[in-house]
Amino acid sequence: MKKMKIFTILALVGVAFATFSMADSDEYSKKSYKKYGSKYSVAPVNNKLYEDECASCHFGYQPGLLPKRSWVKLMEPRELENHFGDDATLEEEDRLTLLGYLTANAADSKYNNSRLSKEIAREIPRGLTPIALSQTRYFKHDHDEIPKRFIEQKEVKSIANCAACHTTAQKGYYGERDIVIPNYGRWDD
Ligand code: HEC
Ligand code: HEC
Repeated sequence: MKKMKIFTILALVGVAFATFSMADSDEYSKKSYKKYGSKYSVAPVNNKLYEDECASCHFGYQPGLLPKRSWVKLMEPRELENHFGDDATLEEEDRLTLLGYLTANAADSKYNNSRLSKEIAREIPRGLTPIALSQTRYFKHDHDEIPKRFIEQKEVKSIANCAACHTTAQKGYYGERDIVIPNYGRWDD
């Protein structure tokens, strides 16, 4: 009888815990998008593993900058092996964890209320699966007025180096207000 009771309590605690942790991750996404819902922002990165593994070679691109199918493709083992000329191979467990994080928070995730993410998801044609936002027509349209010398200079080097010009990129904010191009200054168009 006593044994039975303890078992029941343990089972209930287990179920409650599982429900809580599921609700927690969904809740997080909802909250963060409410907070970062402006036209120019995506939810900032909030994942330590992602920061360690994916923001070591370059700026940590927020999951809300690309649709799910793009993250799925980018995170395939064979793609990671030759990732823009680098080897970004991960332990299988880490790969799956990060894939989950990226797809749950992708531009077209149902939890994502960011207007910027929605725009990105809408503008990328259905038939395309780009793994570089910077190569999309949507992105090029916003960046085609920047003179080449400001991109090629050593302080920037690549148009994929978002934080070099977007001073608040880390926070997920890409509005014009906070664009400062090195050796040029604020961007007014
Ligand atoms: C060993 C270094 C390295 C690691 C680790 C790495 N990357 Fe990259 N990544 C690169 C290089 C190099 C580029 C090309 C950057 C450029 O064009 O300036 C790139 C480009 C990208 C781009 C395209 C950016 C754009 O819009 O042009 C995305 C997205 C990206 N990486 C995501 C990831 C993710 C997700 C991870 C973690 C799983 C990761 N990277 C880990 C080296 C790395
Ligand atoms: C060389 C500097 C530079 C780099 C690097 C850069 N941007 Fe930009 N970005 C700009 C400028 C300038 C604009 C244009 C603002 C305008 O004219 O409205 C812009 C516009 C944008 C916009 C549209 C905002 C708006 O006002 O409509 C987004 C979103 C954006 N950038 C995201 C990114 C991301 C993501 C990256 C990295 C993959 C990146 N940018 C890299 C300079 C840069």
